[in-house]
Amino acid sequence: MYILGIWDGHDSGAAVIKDNEILVAINEERLTRRKLEINFPKKSVEACLKYLNLGPSDISEIAVSTSDPAKTLARIVPSTKEEYYLIRRRKKDLTYLNYQKKRFKYKLTELSPNRITTFLSKKIVQKELDKIGFANYSLSVIDHHISHIAAAAFCSDFKECLVITLDGLGDGVSGTVNIFKDKKLKKVSTISAKDSFGIFFEHVTNLMNMRELEDEGKVMALADYAYPIADKDNPLMEFFKTEDLTIKAKYSSLDMFQKLKKILWRFPSEQFANMAQKTLEYHIIKLIKNAIADTGLKKIALSGGVASNVKVNMMIRNLPECEECFVFPHMGDGGLAMGAAMYRNYELNKITNYKFESVAFGLEYSNEVIENELKRTNLTYTKSPNPEKETAELINQGNIVLWFQGRMEYGPRALGSRSILALPDNLNIKDELNLKLKKRVWYQPFCPTILLEDASTVLEDYNGHPDHFMTMAYKVRDEFKQKLIGVINIDGSCRPQLLADNNSKYVRLLKEIKTLTGYGVLLNTSFNIHGEPLVCSPKDAIDTFISTGIKYLIIGDLIVTQ
Ligand SMILES: [Fe+2]
Repeated sequence: MYILGIWDGHDSGAAVIKDNEILVAINEERLTRRKLEINFPKKSVEACLKYLNLGPSDISEIAVSTSDPAKTLARIVPSTKEEYYLIRRRKKDLTYLNYQKKRFKYKLTELSPNRITTFLSKKIVQKELDKIGFANYSLSVIDHHISHIAAAAFCSDFKECLVITLDGLGDGVSGTVNIFKDKKLKKVSTISAKDSFGIFFEHVTNLMNMRELEDEGKVMALADYAYPIADKDNPLMEFFKTEDLTIKAKYSSLDMFQKLKKILWRFPSEQFANMAQKTLEYHIIKLIKNAIADTGLKKIALSGGVASNVKVNMMIRNLPECEECFVFPHMGDGGLAMGAAMYRNYELNKITNYKFESVAFGLEYSNEVIENELKRTNLTYTKSPNPEKETAELINQGNIVLWFQGRMEYGPRALGSRSILALPDNLNIKDELNLKLKKRVWYQPFCPTILLEDASTVLEDYNGHPDHFMTMAYKVRDEFKQKLIGVINIDGSCRPQLLADNNSKYVRLLKEIKTLTGYGVLLNTSFNIHGEPLVCSPKDAIDTFISTGIKYLIIGDLIVTQ
């Protein structure tokens, strides 16, 4: 039985699963080429079906997530969500009217779903599906957090664990604490949408003139540049109260924004970022410790937008009472389509575990398609008998290379399918990457891929449980800090992809690099230019290659030069 999951909100997308296998998953932004696309994932659904060689009549089960009043209103009047998208991404001025709309949105989004909103949401989604050609299917509406929970629990490979979701909000809830045991999920605590860590951090991001739901990682990175301040002197600490498994916010979301604004007035930006980060860390760690103490479960699976904070995740992983921590790599709402499908599969077929060693669930392209794309350009290319070796040599000579291989990654990180690669020990390369392509703020570091066999050599706090998906920070050993200078934070941490030996082209490339440099580490950043989504097709890759002026593109077995 094929189950199609869809999500039609922020970072919309689709996924198809069957039995305990994830067959294909993609987000709409990769196809419309508009970052964090919000429109109905028509292209994703069609691409998933095409990839599997299926038609709409082959799908009898479809799951969609979230039916709260705000989401339902956005479905009824899509122009409201388009407008909010443009304001949020700062493509539209924040006029007084827009400001009021934003305030209204905050109030509205806190409301829980009811029978009417669920009924209306279902009808509208059905109408969209019917347009694509679906006819005989059952459509289930899966709760927002249940979708996050299912994805984290069922991909963790844990037999039993705590499942914790921490989010902005959805379906009236901002977080949950759950027990996953004996193939069953049981919720033990619910954190209301009014008490949201995600909204708190979103406000902080916004107040610092960054884009909410997009630049929270920049706030986290900037926090490292502040002077240390004791918790008792941090005025943001009291914004929340954490007791046992409950979180209470001191202020309503709108009042919180105003209070934060006043505090920011008194501090430099980096200090404000630091105080916000410390507040998040303090309260989440307290919650997790309480949850471990209450349940006796020492393995933790995390999901929800706040789980993108790699520093918090590092602290959780390093807690003495935490045995192992798994973060679902598409932790934000972009992962809801897969989570919804998994929960439906759990309801119908009791399936609670998926093979999850890689996130290469996206589209792939034949050599013929690649060559046809190249032929429309004036680029020169040669087929290499050993592209991994040749690429390693080019990188070792100090070149930046664009690397396009196999199925595209699912989720926010490039993990060796659509990557930009370079040596990790060179600050000039970092500057060049920033100037030509990425336009990152100066304090936002690049990240490394590290061969798993080198993880304990390079990292101080590697505990034998690898994170393959760049979801948490690790401390770099002193003797490697200079060698990894292009990929570490000022505090000596990095956010690595720990690459297991699966004999993929990417692993072979890292091994060739190790032969040349002595250690299997590369700078790995996503293959896109600033403001664009990760490249998906060979056309996207070649267009980006030409526009950047980078000298080498390795696409399949072809070495393309310009
Ligand atoms: Fe969410």
